[in-house]
Amino acid sequence: MITGTSLVALLHALATDHADRALNVIVSEPDLDEDLRRAMYVAVSDNLEPADQARAIGDALRDADSDPSLTNECYRLAFYASDAWAQLATNPLYAHFVANRAARVLDKWVHYFPVYTRHLERFRERVVNVLEIGVYRGGGLELLSSYLGPQANLVGLDIDEDAVRAVRGRFPVLLGDQADPDVLRKINNDYGPFDVIIDDGGHTMEQQIVTVETLFPLLNDDGVFIVEDTHTSYWSEFGGGLHVPGSFVEWTKPRVDDLHSRHHVGIDRRSIWATDVDGIHWYDSVVVLDKKRRFRPFNEISGTASYLGAARFSETLVIEMLATRDQALHERDALRQQVSELQRNEDDVAKVERLSTQWATQEELRLARAELSSARQLMAELGGQLSSREEELISTRNDLFGSWEQIRLIRRTSSWRLTKPLRAVRRLLSR
Ligand SMILES: C[S@@+](CC[C@H](N)C(=O)[O-])C[C@H]1O[C@@H](n2cnc3c(N)ncnc32)[C@H](O)[C@@H]1O
Repeated sequence: MITGTSLVALLHALATDHADRALNVIVSEPDLDEDLRRAMYVAVSDNLEPADQARAIGDALRDADSDPSLTNECYRLAFYASDAWAQLATNPLYAHFVANRAARVLDKWVHYFPVYTRHLERFRERVVNVLEIGVYRGGGLELLSSYLGPQANLVGLDIDEDAVRAVRGRFPVLLGDQADPDVLRKINNDYGPFDVIIDDGGHTMEQQIVTVETLFPLLNDDGVFIVEDTHTSYWSEFGGGLHVPGSFVEWTKPRVDDLHSRHHVGIDRRSIWATDVDGIHWYDSVVVLDKKRRFRPFNEISGTASYLGAARFSETLVIEMLATRDQALHERDALRQQVSELQRNEDDVAKVERLSTQWATQEELRLARAELSSARQLMAELGGQLSSREEELISTRNDLFGSWEQIRLIRRTSSWRLTKPLRAVRRLLSR
């Protein structure tokens, strides 16, 4: 294996464009496995750009299962020697991280910064309750505070008293174990409910799963739950491993089925994972859950031609008919009320008769309007079948203004004929 000192010398040679010196380090390193030596030699000889050389050496070390810290150094050089750094140049969290050299210790995977800005941007300069689990020396709380702004209420949870001391009262930090649901509920009661929860604590499977299962249901609607360093799901010392049941990443996988619970059967559709998870985001080593009480999914159609010509025409007629009907009902009810009031006063017979006549006339009018409405509906349906809009408009106009022909038609209808005796009696009464 290559020593850390030799690797630094090798990377420095690459960074300063001295590939010959880098090759010297590779050939003269005494304890280097021969396959790895060959792979590293090829990486330096084949690649012209320092960033590509560093990345290829990092890959060779990774494939040889070397100390991850060695690979980390290679990938760091590949990042800074290429233009990859420019992608982060305008990221406010990264800017704070690199510029604030005297800040509290902060150890971050650099690719987390864009993940954080993507999901936390909407909480900036707002009153927002934030919980960070795993405080260490308070660097994360400092960073979040400067990014979110003065209205953010930040609180930490850590199992280590040194974390509480290091923060020196700048933020409240509760001492407790994140694997204990009572501790989590207490911090939620005392400082929550939270809008943002970041789990950067002990990173064991039990800790991560207990924490999300306890705190996600208590998170505010529209909140976000972020779990950091989920690569521990692949590390045996944290209880993980590829496809190992019970790892945090394995716990997240059925959440995809929960998210789609309205599109299949065989799942508890009322569980919070089916109703309140709006989105799940997997990144390298970070999982983000968006909380939102979702409305049931449904399909809608727009962009059809139904709003054109014929439909509008018939819709207008429907509105017209409804208005006519409502007016007729209103007039009828008003007259009925007056008639019944007057009928109670038996002395005013003459007035009763006069109003009864008026009521009868109105009743006739109402019946006529109802018939007219039916006729209009019929015409609207016929109008919809007419191919030319012009013909429809002429027909509509004729219809709307009424014609003697229509009245004649109405008078021929069965209901008109059936009510004929009634009208005759009323006419007699009104004389
Ligand atoms: C990676 S550090 C946190 C770094 C910090 N978030 C930052 O950005 O600077 C992990 C922290 O989690 C704490 N921790 C470990 N196990 C814990 C547990 N069971 N409950 C709460 N905190 C725990 C450790 O004491 C340590 O301070």
